[in-house]
Amino acid sequence: MIEVKKIIAGETSKIRLEVLRKGIDLPYKFKEDLKDDTFHLGVFYKEKLVTIATFIKNKLKDLDGEQYQLRGMATLPEVRGKGFGKVIIEEAVKILKEKNVDFLWCNARKEVTSFYEKLNFVKLGEEFMVEKVGPHFKMYTKI
Ligand SMILES: CC(C)(COP(=O)(O)OP(=O)(O)OC[C@H]1O[C@@H](n2cnc3c(N)ncnc32)[C@H](O)[C@@H]1OP(=O)(O)O)[C@@H](O)C(=O)NCCC(=O)NCCS
Repeated sequence: MIEVKKIIAGETSKIRLEVLRKGIDLPYKFKEDLKDDTFHLGVFYKEKLVTIATFIKNKLKDLDGEQYQLRGMATLPEVRGKGFGKVIIEEAVKILKEKNVDFLWCNARKEVTSFYEKLNFVKLGEEFMVEKVGPHFKMYTKI
């Protein structure tokens, strides 16, 4: 009933717009979306795409080694809390292990830092503001 698989950049648009850009006038496409080393994952529940996440090869100067950045993480509101976010990160960790990546990091919205903490991410540095979105923390997990 649930399937996690790679999706193409265009498949992320609808959920990015509905969940991450609702009332927020910022682009929903990322400049790295179509790069060869970027990948996108989707969770399908009852054959419908409900959770998305994008993984971009991008370095944070505070960390050493191979790194990927998680962006565009979102689950449709009606199916939150069912473990789909967790499943997508677990799948990404498997893929990143195979690529010998050392760290996965993200700019986490303050209100969802507990979600990331449950998935073994830790905060790095001070809270900071992202214009039009709100307070964030850098967070990372060792792969
Ligand atoms: C954050 C988000 C992606 C979580 O997706 P989800 O599919 O509901 O997550 P899961 O069901 O896999 O949750 C995994 C665990 O984190 C917890 N969790 C999920 N969202 C949480 C939140 N906002 N605050 C605290 N804990 C949260 C769940 O209760 C669950 O805990 P459990 O393992 O003890 O049961 C989803 O709430 C969302 O799309 N939010 C709006 C967009 C957003 O903020 N994206 C992240 C931008 S950085």
